[in-house]
Amino acid sequence: MPLPYSEIVMEHFKRPRNVGRLEDADAKATEGSPACGDMVTVYLKVDEATHRITDIKFESYGCASNIATGSIITELAKGKTIEEAKQLTWKDAAEALGGLPPVKVHCSVLAIDGLRGAIQNYEEKKGLIKEKVPTTLEEINRRLKRVVNPVVGLDIVRTKIVKEVTLEDGVVRVTIDMPADHLFANNIRDEIMEKLGTLWDIQRVEVEFVG
Ligand code: FES
Repeated sequence: MPLPYSEIVMEHFKRPRNVGRLEDADAKATEGSPACGDMVTVYLKVDEATHRITDIKFESYGCASNIATGSIITELAKGKTIEEAKQLTWKDAAEALGGLPPVKVHCSVLAIDGLRGAIQNYEEKKGLIKEKVPTTLEEINRRLKRVVNPVVGLDIVRTKIVKEVTLEDGVVRVTIDMPADHLFANNIRDEIMEKLGTLWDIQRVEVEFVG
């Protein structure tokens, strides 16, 4: 039986707005859903003086609901300040889409996580984080769970290729169980740098490949 999608969902799925990548993005984030393993990436251009989102795009590797939600949240967020955009919830997205089947709620949560992740990335890059909590290994692991292992399309923690993580005097060292000349080694290194390098109290991130 087909899922009871609203007409608006179908319209945004068939003609998604703001799809693609922003090459000169000021911030971006890739988030994965623990519920289904799908991913979404959100890119932002932000006016530095007003902190208003001037452009936003997304790439979805998720289902129809995720694509439709990505489409609607980019429309809702464009033109808003980052503070206003932060207040958007999956409920706003679902409402604007004329409702979503309950089994598909996590898909819109994923799109909102992508938007929030990109805003957080912007705030960290620009030193706008108000609450400066010292980074813990727990936070580092949480971020590593958002780094994708392209070999299998799941994160590097779940696929057990993170051998060791240490944090000492603002230096994070991550050891990855993969040959340094592997096709995806550079991708993984770049993503780790991107996820950890913006943390306010981290001076350096070192990624070592063994195997
Ligand atoms: Fe994964 Fe919808 S089922 S995003």
